[in-house]
Amino acid sequence: MTKPSVLVTRRWPAAVEARLAEDYNTVLNTGDTPMSPAEIRDALKHYDAVLPTVTDTLSAEALDVPTAQTKILANYGVGYSHICEPSARELGMTVTNTPDVLSECTADIAMTLLLMVARRAGEGERELRAGNWTGWRPTHLVGTKVSGKTLGIIGYGRIGQEMARRAHHGFGMDVVIYNRSQVAPDILAKCNATQVDTVDELLPQCDFVSLHCPGGAANRHLINGRRLDLMKPDAFLINTARGEVIDEHALIQALMFDTIGGAALDVFDGEPRISSDLLQCDNLVMLPHLGSATKEAREAMGFRVIENLNDFFNGKNPRDKVI
Ligand code: DGY
Repeated sequence: MTKPSVLVTRRWPAAVEARLAEDYNTVLNTGDTPMSPAEIRDALKHYDAVLPTVTDTLSAEALDVPTAQTKILANYGVGYSHICEPSARELGMTVTNTPDVLSECTADIAMTLLLMVARRAGEGERELRAGNWTGWRPTHLVGTKVSGKTLGIIGYGRIGQEMARRAHHGFGMDVVIYNRSQVAPDILAKCNATQVDTVDELLPQCDFVSLHCPGGAANRHLINGRRLDLMKPDAFLINTARGEVIDEHALIQALMFDTIGGAALDVFDGEPRISSDLLQCDNLVMLPHLGSATKEAREAMGFRVIENLNDFFNGKNPRDKVI
């Protein structure tokens, strides 16, 4: 039997690429450059499966093909707001993602950011590397204590829950959460978390707010100027979800005028382009979308894509089918 043809849009860990090549007619993007909408449209006409990731924009424009050879978009990554859902549905495509396997590592990065911004670690490193450190003094780079403070979590899926576990059991933090649907009492109880009904109710209570909701149109600018004003003047905002969840212009204002304590971002609207105004903000820590960037998570994500593909081509419902 001919093996299904599969296009991988970016380089993947070597072990996963090797396994994929055993079972499928695999074409790799050896140059590792993001594909244009025209290249994606072309791929949809020629491959049985396309394996995209967050850097591929599978917009209505890219999915605008009369008929597609591709029957499955097996996404490498948990977030899939870069795939236009109505267009994928119209083409009758199955879409899968890779949940679970990156939750702990993404929560680790969220906690890293939280600690870095609270303890001014980015500022300290910049000072030291620039050769400007004049030595220890009682008033030098004084930050904010993390232990025992209140953490607000927006989006209480797997990553949000892992973040709560670290914050509550590691740092004795009180956890307040907002989630679209009601969270089961036993899940809340694991971190003694309190669920509130609205984002507006959560924000004024928290010393730290960490975003773990999906991106896409529904949550675009969920954190806008009005909501930033609801935060305590010394509170910190952490984003490892998607850049579009924050109105970046409003955040820049809040950081420049010190209406919040600071922010820490792993994701950016329109990344990898970074606003030059963000670069001016000292009370901001930035990482280049490293949430799932561990050997363990990145390999597990790839093997999870292969499981989804195997299910699909064996006529089963893939376990991570989202569309
Ligand atoms: C995802 O999985 O959605 C991340 O943003 C990349 O790990």
